[in-house]
Amino acid sequence: MAETKTILRALAGETLPTPPIWMMRQAGRYLPEYKATRAQAGDFLSLCYNSELAAEVTLQPIRRYGFDAAILFADILLLPQALGADLWFVTGEGPRLSTITKQAEFDKLGRGEMIHDTLNPIYDTIRILRRELPEETTLIGFAGAPWTVATYMIAGRGTPDQGPAHALKYENRALFEAIIERLTESTIDYLSAQIDAGAEVVKIFDSWAGSLQGEDFHRYALYPARVITEELKRRHPGIPVIAFPRQAGDKYIGFHAATGADCVAVDDSVSPEWVAEHVQPGGCVQGNLASKHMVTGGQALVDETRKVVEALRNGPHIFNLGHGITPDADPENVQLMIDTVRSA
Ligand code: CP3
Repeated sequence: MAETKTILRALAGETLPTPPIWMMRQAGRYLPEYKATRAQAGDFLSLCYNSELAAEVTLQPIRRYGFDAAILFADILLLPQALGADLWFVTGEGPRLSTITKQAEFDKLGRGEMIHDTLNPIYDTIRILRRELPEETTLIGFAGAPWTVATYMIAGRGTPDQGPAHALKYENRALFEAIIERLTESTIDYLSAQIDAGAEVVKIFDSWAGSLQGEDFHRYALYPARVITEELKRRHPGIPVIAFPRQAGDKYIGFHAATGADCVAVDDSVSPEWVAEHVQPGGCVQGNLASKHMVTGGQALVDETRKVVEALRNGPHIFNLGHGITPDADPENVQLMIDTVRSA
């Protein structure tokens, strides 16, 4: 039977008259219904591990807007937690983790099948979603890329320049590489279990790929993405993979071929015209409207949305923002973006 889900068609390389749409962080604090369910769950992590409520918030933007894909509601930092790191969220500030900068701290981490003890509720969320999603909606699973997750594990929090992770890389490269390897192998197991539960596509978020330069980019962003992609495709033939080496700039070029990813998601620091010329020849691209337009709206939103659609219409494209929607966004601007894409 011919594939009917538009996202899967774009990922298979088809150029569609209207690009399918979804939005990073589409279930989030800009939506009043999300805030209500999060309040019901108590805190963010309780929401992630409550399969019924996590499925509910995943479905909210699908009901409200009819996006072409739903993304599993979870977080990239659940994997380090499943490996044994402490994780908590400080309201208004973001994530905190126990730090890993010494061999003895690394040695306490687990490995292998044990991650599923913590992550089973996430797989249950996926099973609920496959039952409840409209049949035309694609379900995307995800994980953080090893480098990005390592930056949080090493620093114990988000950092503007990923300084502590870069420092460890120079001071104790063996330990740094052991962390990257442990994350690479457990990310494969995590995503593989998501696929077994019903995820139809997986996305690898490398939010801090842009701070890796030269050979480091090759070793710690590109190579892990390739190992993960190859092993997932070996275990699950045909599973589409979206890679997001955010702020990779010139290094977006050739990323499809070098990793085997079906789609490369691009942020808005590169223009859609540049992406059409240099990245889209390699395969499907996803992006890249600046998320600030979801706050500011108006004619600029319409013009910039059309620009992205126009620039990328001669090849496979999934419309998205360049990064996640922010809590100060206006839900009506999201509708305006969708209407603009679908009428362009
Ligand atoms: O896209 C989606 O809607 C799916 C769910 C999702 C979340 N986080 C939910 C979330 C996904 C895919 C992520 C990925 C994630 N998490 C990344 C990579 C993508 C990116 O944005 O760069 C990173 C770096 C994280 C780590 C993380 N989680 C941070 C830094 C924060 C705090 C940021 C903030 O805005 O407060 C989170 C919390 C988080 N993850 C929220 C959501 C909806 C906000 C939590 C809340 O309700 O308070």
